[in-house]
Formats: sequence, structure tokens, C-alpha cells
Amino acid sequence: MASAEEDRPSYEVYKETADWLRARTSQHPRVAIICGSGLGGLADVLDNKTVFPYEDIPHFPRSTVAGHAGRLVFGELGGQPCVCMQGRCHEWDPIYAFGFLQVTFPIRVFFLLGVEILIVTNAAGGLNPHFQVGDIMFLRDHISLFGLGGQNPLRGPNEERFGVRFPCMSDAYERELRGLAMEATRELGFLSFTREGVYCLLPGPSYETIAESRLLQALGADAVGMSTVPEVIVARHCGLRVLGISLITNKVVTSYSSQEKANHEEVLHVSAGRAEALQKLVTHLLGKLGESPKPL
Ligand code: HPA
Repeated sequence: MASAEEDRPSYEVYKETADWLRARTSQHPRVAIICGSGLGGLADVLDNKTVFPYEDIPHFPRSTVAGHAGRLVFGELGGQPCVCMQGRCHEWDPIYAFGFLQVTFPIRVFFLLGVEILIVTNAAGGLNPHFQVGDIMFLRDHISLFGLGGQNPLRGPNEERFGVRFPCMSDAYERELRGLAMEATRELGFLSFTREGVYCLLPGPSYETIAESRLLQALGADAVGMSTVPEVIVARHCGLRVLGISLITNKVVTSYSSQEKANHEEVLHVSAGRAEALQKLVTHLLGKLGESPKPL
């Protein structure tokens, strides 16, 4: 991963992208949704869609991972104006020389478009022994092994027009949004497969060893994945409200006698099986957002 601070996009570059999009759609999204592995179907159920392939959007990063389509979709869901990232790019994706800056680029564009809320979904491995494959976990908090190792998307000169030099992260995942999401889950009858927990970011792309998995459990992580945290840090820096949702696509192997092996096909298969429930949940939640005032 290159830190390439000299290549950090200027405020004007983010603004150029936002202005380009604003000139091509009359929609004013309040909510941005990042669709994780195999969860891109969420973007397909938006009403009144306007679609932009990433490669058409100036300065926008592209996705090359199987299961990630690579389109920005504007539209409405649950009565809320939304913009959906159908396919995200990953920090470790080899076409990205700039790492975090590419992964988090869209977040600042959303901020400039007037987005207020970020909903980020991902596929994750379950570390908590009580979790089952197919569970939906609302993120209460995260552990970034990148961050603890000195890699943070906010490193380098701070752009005050986005946020403060030292942003707080103890409230990264908003309690009110999580409460609403839980309420939506209850109303839909999804409580039996809904959890709350701590998400741990590993860089990937290899899955973790058994010893690493045990270490993450000892650290207090409930689920592990390869995304989300950089976007959340940048979103909080510019004041977006954040809800994180993990779909537990596999149980992480923590025993040397286990025959199971993590693989991307299983991740996509389980995502597909729960995609509809997740779509219902997000749609129902968005329908409730009108009732949710922005916290001070
Ligand atoms: N580990 C890391 N990332 C993942 C996993 C996992 O087991 N499952 C889905 N994404």
C-alpha cells in the first residue's frame, strides 16, 4: 500500500466530481448506501433510478472484485432520496496505487452532494461463537488493525472544509440509527437472526489463519472483514451519520480440527440467500428515517 500523500486529491477534485454528478441528476440524495460483496441487488430495487458506471465519473475509483458491479445508482428507497454504490473498491485492490484515498473518495463526494447518512453493508466472517451463518450484525464499533498499525485514511494534511484534524470515533456508529434499525428488524420479524457487535478490519485479501482468528476473538471482535472502516472514518470526519451492517457469510475457523475453509464463493452464496431480507430491512429502515431527527 502506498501512502502517496503528495497524490492526495484536493478539495477541488472532490468538488469537480460532485459538480459533474449534480449536473446530470436532479436527485438530491439524503442517504448513501455502500453495497458489500453480493449485496449489490439493493441498488436494483431503487425507484426512479439514474445510473452512472464508475468509469464514466471523473476521478471516481473502480471496482474489480467479482460480485461488485461498479455503478453509482441514484434513486429512491423507502421514500428517501438515495445514492447507492453498487460495488466498492478495496484497499488492497491492485489497481489502486493510492489505497485509502481511492476507497474513501466517494464518501467526500457524497458529503458535497448533501448526503446526511451513510449506510455501509459488508460481508463478514463470524468470530463470535454465538453467531450463525446468515446473521445480520449491526456494527456497534470497530477495531482497525490498519489504524493501530499507523494507517489511517486521514493521515496527511487536514482539509478543514471536510472536518477537524482529530475527529472523535467513539461515536462512529450512531446509537439512534442502530436503534431504528433494530426496531425495523423487530417489525419485520427478523430478530432471531439479528445481532450487534464489533467489526474488525483486516487488510486481506487472504483470509485469516486460525491463530489470527483466535487473536481477534481475544481482542473482542465479533466479526471480521476487509472493508468498511476507512469509509466510516472519512464519513465521520465530515459529519455523516453512520449505520454499519455486516452479513455473517461464514464462521471463521478457530479450531485446528475443523475441515472448513473460508472462500469467496461461499461469501457470495450466503449473501445471495440473505439479500432479500437485507433489502427489506434497509427499505423499512429508510421509511422510518423521516421520524429520526439529526442528533446535535
Ligand atoms: N474473513 C475476512 N473477511 C471476510 C470473511 C472472513 O472470514 N468473510 C467475509 N469477508
